[in-house]
Amino acid sequence: MPLIVLPDDEHLDRAARLLRDGELVSFPTETVYGLGADARNVAAVRRIFAAKHRPVEHPLIVHLADASALDRWARVVPDAARVLGQALWPGPLTLILPRAAGVSDAVTGGEDSVGLRVPSHPVARRLLERFAALGGDGVAAPSANRFGRVSATTAQHVADDFGDEVALIIDGGPCPHGIESTIVAMTEDEPVVLRLGAIAVERFAARLGRQPAIGGARAPRASGSFASHYAPRTPARLLPSAELRQAVLRNPHGHIVVLAHSTAQPPSFEGVWFDAPAHDAAYAQELYANLRALDALAADEIWIEAPPDGPEWSAVRDRLRRATHRG
Ligand code: TXA
Ligand code: MG
Repeated sequence: MPLIVLPDDEHLDRAARLLRDGELVSFPTETVYGLGADARNVAAVRRIFAAKHRPVEHPLIVHLADASALDRWARVVPDAARVLGQALWPGPLTLILPRAAGVSDAVTGGEDSVGLRVPSHPVARRLLERFAALGGDGVAAPSANRFGRVSATTAQHVADDFGDEVALIIDGGPCPHGIESTIVAMTEDEPVVLRLGAIAVERFAARLGRQPAIGGARAPRASGSFASHYAPRTPARLLPSAELRQAVLRNPHGHIVVLAHSTAQPPSFEGVWFDAPAHDAAYAQELYANLRALDALAADEIWIEAPPDGPEWSAVRDRLRRATHRG
């Protein structure tokens, strides 16, 4: 069985030593749990890909104890990147920057760029600081889930996916955002948002003096940008609020489970009905736990009430589109 431990000094020291020795350690961040390895140790980084069953050309994010490490990892740091880092780090922002000499292809998936972020979760910070104290320089960590599957927002989710393939899982409780970092590429003249996430894109405009572009054909590889990703095993589909109630009433006995947020469960419906929070941040925080719990019921389908249209729901809409994509 994997070892789930509390984030006390003794366990954090042990986790830092395991990372130094090339082992995998899972740790909480403010977004989702990460599956970490020493970013300067190619063999350790390769173990992440093996454990996740992730294709090797998909780059990882390097987690740094503080922004002063930026120049060791990036060969060019545009002013706009420093502005965003200063304003939003520590926090759920990932910057894609031209990689510095010596940053391995194992981390970057062969890209000439590298993803960097300074997380704000106190447990992640304490672990990164201890790792740095042992001479470590950055922890490469994707989300701690099997490739293409729903991200992990509790220590138990990580244990469910990886069993004893990870040396240690540090339990920091449920992740406060529950949805991944916002990724901004700073490799061209203009910043491009590659993945919507925990920081609303609107917040960049104030700092950059303009709204950054979203997506774009020239965006480098990002596995989170695949049409089908973050997906439960059970087929899942989105239904507009107005249709959900009718669809359920037409199908009261089918083995359907429902994730609603504003529609009330019709009394005649006999299946499992989750009432998710109606507020965007609370909904996002519980989203992956809800999808995992509904998936575990092995229903024929998961029906998800489509979230509202507002900009504050855009990252949730993005994840649900991918979770419900077929094909
Ligand atoms: O919130 C998060 O970002 C979490 C926590 C653990 O920090 N991490 C996370 O990692 O979501 P992952 O590997 O599941 O997703 C990172 C995304 C991937 O889609 C990857 O392709 C993209 O970042 N990425 C990383 N480096 C990149 C690069 N150099 N160019 C383009 N995309 C990159
Ligand atoms: Mg992921």
